Amino acid sequence: MTPEPHSPAGTDDPALGPPPGCPAHTPGPGGLHRLYGPDAADLGGLYERLREEHGPVAPVLLHDDVPMWVVLGHAENLHLVRTPSQFTRDSRVWTPLLEGMVEPGHPLMPHIAWQPICSHAEGAEHQRLRAAVTGAMATIDHRGIRRHIGRYTQRLVNEFCEAGRADLVTRFAEPLPMAVMCELLGMPEEYNERMVQAARDALKGSETANASHQYVLDALSRLTARRRARPEEDFASRLIAHPARLSDDEVREHLRLVLFAAYETTANLLGNALRMVLTEPGFRAQLNGGQMTVPEAVEQSLWDEPPFSTVFAYYAKQDTELGGQRIRRGDGLLFAPAPGNIDPRVRPDLTAGMQGNRSHLAFGGGPHECPGQDIGRAIADVGVDALLMRLPDVQLDCEESELAWRESIASRHLVSLPVRFEPKPQQDVTPLPGHLPVPPQPAPVPAPAVGPGVVDPRPAAVPEPSRLRGSWQRLRRWWRGH
Ligand code: HEM
Repeated sequence: MTPEPHSPAGTDDPALGPPPGCPAHTPGPGGLHRLYGPDAADLGGLYERLREEHGPVAPVLLHDDVPMWVVLGHAENLHLVRTPSQFTRDSRVWTPLLEGMVEPGHPLMPHIAWQPICSHAEGAEHQRLRAAVTGAMATIDHRGIRRHIGRYTQRLVNEFCEAGRADLVTRFAEPLPMAVMCELLGMPEEYNERMVQAARDALKGSETANASHQYVLDALSRLTARRRARPEEDFASRLIAHPARLSDDEVREHLRLVLFAAYETTANLLGNALRMVLTEPGFRAQLNGGQMTVPEAVEQSLWDEPPFSTVFAYYAKQDTELGGQRIRRGDGLLFAPAPGNIDPRVRPDLTAGMQGNRSHLAFGGGPHECPGQDIGRAIADVGVDALLMRLPDVQLDCEESELAWRESIASRHLVSLPVRFEPKPQQDVTPLPGHLPVPPQPAPVPAPAVGPGVVDPRPAAVPEPSRLRGSWQRLRRWWRGH
């Protein structure tokens, strides 16, 4: 089973351009724009030109000039994902595929090839597979997750806090989601640098991508076999035990889907949210002044830089109309949160904050809407909050203009986020006080007012061990998870 780059299990870099002299350097058939090659150097700019030329749904070309629609409008994207009677995620109805226009070696084939996982299934089969995933997720203790996120954040910060410098993409945004997901799935012992590298490599579609992908799959196969033999209290065991009666292959494939979906998106979200906090003066000032909480900052990032720019793809089950375009049965359509989230009809002023408004497209919608969004949000909220508590003086260690991005149709990743801060001592990551009772009410803890010279009124996220004795502090730490 190959990874699936444009879907939640994504991989690869489909924006890799053609060599000079390739036909991709001239307009495509019908004067259409290509989502690859030179046209794709600035996909955000291209989407805006397409919006001007064609309105909310635009015809484009994929590699080998395979036709596709890209959905640019917010309302049209919602209609696409919420109307399963008209649109499906099952690529086996896609006309260019049926007519042989898409060669087996097409660079997007790993995205296109149908797989027996819930993100490609529909109807009763989708319900069966998705029920197992959501059923297993529903058993996850969310306070437990926050504790794991807090603990792994402290461990990661311990690894670089004495140096006074770090790259927050490779030292924090990438390893944190992998550590938390290995823990949740039930294989904390598999979390290490090699696992993070393997996932990163598999998603980049580099020469070693297949071997890296296999490394992750082997770990998931081992986990499946172990939990089939001896269930425990984790996501893998719940998936196996679900009445949907998944086969071992289905269990492993859904563990793979969840691991890659969670890792790639949440790493992007963490990187994007941290970049915003570090580079946008208004943003940092609002956080420092307590006018904006970390969860609100994360939500703003989901509007402005959704971790999946597009999701490949939906297919028309019948002739229909969308955004004024005539869509034929068998046409393919890219669900596109990045241009959809900045549709001028919903955001006439892009500088206006979207506080309190969660109607962005970052998590999709309809029957395939992301079932892991609370987990993704929790990793970003707790991770950013705890990092800023440990390093309140953290600042960018390069010019903002030097920040580099790696862009594909599917997503836009920050390559690195160098920061500096006053070196700090390591802190104890003490074991959890498992005997403490569950507090009756989840007292919301206001986001920290962070920054030089600003005093956070709350107890420190990880107080000195000597200050841990008070039972209130212990309870509070236990509740917040870090
Ligand atoms: C910030 C983090 C995340 C973002 C932005 C995100 C975004 C998305 C999007 C856009 C989709 C496709 C929706 C569609 O086809 O209409 C999706 C599907 C999915 N996501 Fe997430 N996701 C995130 C985190 C997670 C996490 C943490 C998990 C697991 C714990 C997860 C598991 C899944 C699964 C299993 C699907 C497939 C659902 C289906 O097809 O029924 N995601 N996600």
